[in-house]
Amino acid sequence: MAKLYSVPQRVRDGGQQPIRSMSDYTDVSNQWVEHPNDFWLAETKKSLSWEDEPSVGLEGDYHTVCHEPFSWFADGRLNVTESCLDRHVRSQPDKTAIIWEGDEPGDGRTLTYRELHAEVCRAAAALRRLGVCSGDRVIIYMGMVPEAAVAMLACARIGAVHSVVFGGFSSEALRDRIDDCGAKLVITQDQGLRGGRPIPLKATVDDALAKTDLVQSVLVYRRTGIEVGWVDNRDVWWHEAVVDGTDMVSGPEYVHSEHPLFILYTSGSTGRPKGLVHTCAGYLTYTAYTHRTVFDLRPDDVYACVADVGWITGHSYIVYGPLANGATSLMFESTPLYPDAGRYWDLVERHKVSIFYTAPTAIRALAAHGEEPVDKYDISSLRVLGTVGEPINPDAWEWYYSVVGKNRCNIVDTWWQTETGGICIAPVASATPTKAGSATLPLPGIRPVLIDPATQKTRAGPAQGHLCLEHSWPGQARTVWGDHARFVQTYFSTYPGLYFTGDGCRRDDDGYYWITGRIDDVLNVSGHRMGTAEFEAALVSNDAVAEAAVVGYPHAIKGQGVYAFVVLNSNNGNVPIDQLNQTVRTAIGAHARVDRFQSVPGLPKTRSGKVMRRILRKVAEGQTDALGDISTLADQSVVAAIIQGAATQR
Ligand code: PRX
Repeated sequence: MAKLYSVPQRVRDGGQQPIRSMSDYTDVSNQWVEHPNDFWLAETKKSLSWEDEPSVGLEGDYHTVCHEPFSWFADGRLNVTESCLDRHVRSQPDKTAIIWEGDEPGDGRTLTYRELHAEVCRAAAALRRLGVCSGDRVIIYMGMVPEAAVAMLACARIGAVHSVVFGGFSSEALRDRIDDCGAKLVITQDQGLRGGRPIPLKATVDDALAKTDLVQSVLVYRRTGIEVGWVDNRDVWWHEAVVDGTDMVSGPEYVHSEHPLFILYTSGSTGRPKGLVHTCAGYLTYTAYTHRTVFDLRPDDVYACVADVGWITGHSYIVYGPLANGATSLMFESTPLYPDAGRYWDLVERHKVSIFYTAPTAIRALAAHGEEPVDKYDISSLRVLGTVGEPINPDAWEWYYSVVGKNRCNIVDTWWQTETGGICIAPVASATPTKAGSATLPLPGIRPVLIDPATQKTRAGPAQGHLCLEHSWPGQARTVWGDHARFVQTYFSTYPGLYFTGDGCRRDDDGYYWITGRIDDVLNVSGHRMGTAEFEAALVSNDAVAEAAVVGYPHAIKGQGVYAFVVLNSNNGNVPIDQLNQTVRTAIGAHARVDRFQSVPGLPKTRSGKVMRRILRKVAEGQTDALGDISTLADQSVVAAIIQGAATQR
């Protein structure tokens, strides 16, 4: 039985959110059970600023979704930036909204709510002058600078739909996203900076745009001052466009609740990433609610989520949730190891961070450096420690709890996805006793079910199965941009009437949930979500490779490593590793890399030609004595050769 960690007294004391004990948790969860729509309507009215308040909650469900997306608060009208900015400018104009910590320790600046609001209004006016209208798509390809958040909010201010593309993606990946969403404008910067290394953002945009003519303007923020390529009549400097002007029209564009707020591309089982669409009111309601509930937000908190705005965590828990709650949110440009393994703790000491949210990969990497880099700093301001993005192994959890938290913070292991918009299964910091490695319990309004894949039946009590959720919540993605059928097929067809998450999960005797990882062809490497099919498409595009199959395997730091089985066109058996990894980098981006290659004479295929990945996964995991039934393979001799090759390689 896993040990139960009670909530430390100092974390319990002084809580201001409605859930401060497990009996509160049960009461609030029951309120939702009794009146789900009233529950969320009350939340949204309480936590957002509305132009026209909604009178309806959820309309539609997981059965009707095949005809049209379900909706939340459909008859309301609002502009999300009023909730994130204007009302705070009225009530707390001088409160710090964003603390920016640049790549070099101590380099940075802060923006108050008044300053952030003014900058967003100027940027919104600039976008309008550049011809961006409500509903137009804008790609944001930036590093971790405050202007990235300003750009997102400026789009929201005028009803434009942003799609942030993580700055590590290659020009090909960027172009695919520009084409898919039909972007009119790109916002970027001359260079990014990360861990002392420049990232050529503008040059990558130039490359991407060389083969597409959709984009009319590129707005360029100057970060490092390096000289960049320039296309007249297309490229515009941020500092020349985002200024006070007489033609400034910066008032909010009111939109309906279900107006798209953003599109965020994420990987699935096929080669083509899908653009998940999140809409204004439901998304903001849910991110604000979960941010203040899970982290037990208090007025004086300094909240630091060290994710990147290119991923959903950055959207929901650096920008939208915290700003809707009027919190102070820290943006971090650098890495956990730059200039050394004490960087996070230096950050915590200098900014008096009280809530710190990171990924298990970073925790594992830091644990490898021991306690000394942590103990050099005064991190006593910490109260709540969060993790997100991948399962956290109990050892890393315990290191985080004792070495960083000094046994006096609560850890919130938060399970959620790009699709869910916000946290679904997690402890409530001030209330939920924790277990090392468990995301614990569902938040109010979330109904997890575990399905036995063999029988398609729900498993009750302590059990393991495919994790599904059975009732919509406001933050859920509504569709895949331009392909609603794919949305329905991916999430609602495996188990009709349920949202299928793609994760495996175990529920223990106490009803606690333990996420076991993806059960589909999605990889989770250092918390970065990538599809095996994306790797395979890249590898076979290289002339050296005839066929490729990619699987994940357990990796001590990254959580999962990438293992590629390749059938080479030449039979000398030498895998051109660097060349192939360069191909992968060009197709996907700098964050995509194969860790292990194995040249194989053929892939294990069924008679109908389907690759049996189960076998390859076992080989990659080193479990060659547990391959199971291989009698349906077209050529069983391939398996022996693969096992032998793997053994030689080890
Ligand atoms: O497998 C789960 C894993 O990350 C996947 C979602 O990835 P993405 O859409 O990129 O969003 C990441 C940030 C929310 C999930 O399907 N995952 C996320 N959080 C956890 C997790 N696995 C275990 N424990 C978590 N806390």
